[in-house]
Amino acid sequence: MKIVSIENLVSGLQNVADDDFRGDNIYQFLTDNPIDVDTLSPYFFWSKNCYTRNLIYRDERFELMVLCWEKGQISRVHDHADQMCWMTVPVGRLRGQNFKIKEIQPEKGFCKLEQTDSFELSDCLAAKVELEEPIHQILNLPEFDQRAVSLHIYSRPFESCLSYCRETDTFKSVPLFYSSIKGKLCSGVVL
Ligand code: SIN
Repeated sequence: MKIVSIENLVSGLQNVADDDFRGDNIYQFLTDNPIDVDTLSPYFFWSKNCYTRNLIYRDERFELMVLCWEKGQISRVHDHADQMCWMTVPVGRLRGQNFKIKEIQPEKGFCKLEQTDSFELSDCLAAKVELEEPIHQILNLPEFDQRAVSLHIYSRPFESCLSYCRETDTFKSVPLFYSSIKGKLCSGVVL
């Protein structure tokens, strides 16, 4: 199968008509256009503290970023602020764990979650976060024993999301940050 440079992936996405920028279309686009990892490497930044979020392209309709995961790094349990999300994992391997709400009292910031299905991603396989069950966590499990890189498309771009703490059964809105933008480390970011 042909592999596609990041520049061509971005222009392919820019050319998708507004009405087609959803669900299965973008999923199929990612499946049909596996990324040439060499063209992604200028956006790789690694931190021993936390996975990094590296913006490649953003417009009003979507943002495209690579996340770099050291061995054992995990995301928070979070949602995507009602936005659509697609991802592939061109380097390494990642586990996605979905959750459903068992009990919620928003006025108290209380939310009890239950684990549902999980999925594994590697080899540029595409996945989408389901809007019906949007709460999930991404994990580079220690037993995978390797770094991983994931490519994410969010539509529309969002700056905050809900983060869930399973120990305390609480949730709150948290801001999201980029570690780098277009290959340049953001000011104040320490790797
Ligand atoms: C993130 O965007 O920071 C987490 C990865 C994801 O769930 O898409």
